[in-house]
Amino acid sequence: MNKLFFIVALAFFLSSNTEKKLSDNKIYLQENYIKIDKTDPLYTKGRNIFKRDCAACHYIGMDLLGTAPPLGGITKLRKKDWLYKYTRNSYQMYEQGDKIAKEIRSKKSWGLMTSFPNLTDSDLDAIYYFVEKRYEMTKKGIPVEK
Ligand code: HEC
Repeated sequence: MNKLFFIVALAFFLSSNTEKKLSDNKIYLQENYIKIDKTDPLYTKGRNIFKRDCAACHYIGMDLLGTAPPLGGITKLRKKDWLYKYTRNSYQMYEQGDKIAKEIRSKKSWGLMTSFPNLTDSDLDAIYYFVEKRYEMTKKGIPVEK
């Protein structure tokens, strides 16, 4: 009888202990996220502009298709000049026959992307820094901030 009680108590102790470990892990990820968030001004700047100008169409986790393609990894796929010009006025580039712009629009009948002629180079530096940082975080399982 005593032995049975001991086994039940041990099982209970072990299961509550693993639960605690899981939630510790969650809190750790959350703290980790907030740490990057608060101590990195470029990240914060990029996130604010992204939320204001891009997140309506491009998923902020950077890995899923929204009404626009996911942007994670884009800085490795395109040249910086192209990316900045495209963000400022993608449709003009399409109209002028830019090869990549035409290729993107030939694959799928996308809606039109808004133009952002007022974004400065430093705004765009911050946006694309945020895009790649956020993408790395998503790949590590760090949840998107609400
Ligand atoms: C109204 C919706 C909308 C908004 C807002 C928007 N986009 Fe887009 N974006 C699109 C669509 C649709 C495409 C795909 C078709 C195209 O390129 O025209 C696209 C494509 C892109 C591409 C090209 C991807 C590639 O494969 O090269 C980049 C880069 C991009 N967007 C960046 C941005 C950034 C940065 C912002 C915010 C400053 C932004 N977009 C805001 C809809 C949007």
